[in-house]
Amino acid sequence: MRHQFDVVIVGTGIAGLTCAIYLKKAGLNVVSMTKESHISDSNTFHAQGGIVASKDDDSANLLREDILNAGCSYNRIDAVEYFVKYGPPLVFDFLVNDVGIEFSKSSKGDIDYTEEAAHSVKRIVHFEDHTGDKIEESLIDYAKKIGVKFLVDYTAIDLITNNHHSRNTQELYKEREVMGIYALNNKKDYPETFFAQNVVLATGGIGNLYYHSTNPVSATGDGISMAYRAGADIINAEFVQFHPTSLFHRDIKRFLISESLRGEGARLKDHKDHEFMYEYSEMGDLAPRDVVARSIYDRMSKTGKEYMFLDIANYYEGSIPLEKRFSKIYSTCKDGGIDITKEPIPIVPAAHYFCGGIKADIKGRSSLKNLYAIGEAACTGLHGANRLASTSLLEGLLWGKSTAEDIIQKKYRINTKRFSSIPDWEIPSDIEEFDPLLIDQDIKAIQLTMWNYAGIIRTEKGLRRAEADLDYYSHRIMRFYKSAKLHKDIIELRNSVVCSSLIVAAALRNTKSVGCHYRSKSN
Ligand code: SIN
Repeated sequence: MRHQFDVVIVGTGIAGLTCAIYLKKAGLNVVSMTKESHISDSNTFHAQGGIVASKDDDSANLLREDILNAGCSYNRIDAVEYFVKYGPPLVFDFLVNDVGIEFSKSSKGDIDYTEEAAHSVKRIVHFEDHTGDKIEESLIDYAKKIGVKFLVDYTAIDLITNNHHSRNTQELYKEREVMGIYALNNKKDYPETFFAQNVVLATGGIGNLYYHSTNPVSATGDGISMAYRAGADIINAEFVQFHPTSLFHRDIKRFLISESLRGEGARLKDHKDHEFMYEYSEMGDLAPRDVVARSIYDRMSKTGKEYMFLDIANYYEGSIPLEKRFSKIYSTCKDGGIDITKEPIPIVPAAHYFCGGIKADIKGRSSLKNLYAIGEAACTGLHGANRLASTSLLEGLLWGKSTAEDIIQKKYRINTKRFSSIPDWEIPSDIEEFDPLLIDQDIKAIQLTMWNYAGIIRTEKGLRRAEADLDYYSHRIMRFYKSAKLHKDIIELRNSVVCSSLIVAAALRNTKSVGCHYRSKSN
């Protein structure tokens, strides 16, 4: 089946939804696509802490300093300037005033600003401790109300470019242009062709490449891998941010214990009830998260333990009762047999956020014509070598808007006659059957390789080992991919191995420790 749109947006987190809303309001023919069965199934949905927003005692200068300090001044300056000026007010102008979100209030009835590590003022608004699902669901409702078209259960396979796909040989000699995407209709097991004047990749991050992650299993770097195959620039791939505190539990996986607990006083402790963070940083428990994650990892290695503890029970002094302020963490831990009002929470660091990605400017433009990247899939340079907490939702929001604005005012349009030279996705004649067990096994092997050799602390030897292992997996997976019946899991597996290789190659190239890329000299 062949479709045609002004804009195809892949991914339905905060960045993709915001972009779709602005485009639709301007009257463009836009479709928002997700590989999941529910529109809300995105990384945004799981965000807990909150979103940086304007506040009277804050300033663009202060926020700029905090972002640059966390990012080790590896940040792209124009992106930081743009963010600190236009980002914080947008939370009130768009999310509160247009979309109608009501963030949590203090007992006095004012907006309850909270703190997280490395922020010099309390500038984060939140909805209890599940800000992400509140924003995600509100944006979906709003988008539906204004008539945004959604397609669920469609897995993007590859970008269509003139150079790669056209049967008109003259297209080979033209500048490379993105003309749409091939996507698998998961329900009908059939690839469809989506032509578009512009494609926006808002596919989120790569957390699922790691054994411990706060991300959902869908975070397999799909957009980054697609953009890479089409020839777009991918940058800063060595910067994988590890969150210091995910729940360590036999049955509950991928559950974040928000940094805002430490913002509200919680302390990290070892198995002897000893607070250890001041041994690693004068900022103690509120040191930047790369420092905290490494400190916990170091403590785990030195004591031979698989986890440490976070104690909020003995330190919380907030005006909102603990069970309400952290309602989701409270109830999830309670379900797992832990009462956070009475006892410390077992935690382990986990892959959380990708600071690298598809190179994009302040209008979301990638290095390929007609291709935009926003949200975690993009690397705008805002975060530099390490992201300041609670800036990612706002980055998605702001770049969703700026990208839509760029597309709306864009004069260039592809002559749609050129689409007729693009064939549909070719299905191999001799199809190999799909074995879910093998796919699962391969994903697990990648996750362990990445966790052990390209994780919180990296060595030359470990990275070389990861490179060799990934070469082997990649060879096998690519061969299988060519002959296998297309399936969402296979597409994700291919994307996972491509992104893992990009991360390891970048980590090997950058021999200096900076931000969340830490190279140990020991090997
Ligand atoms: C958290 O709540 O700790 C996560 C916030 C973030 O990653 O920005």
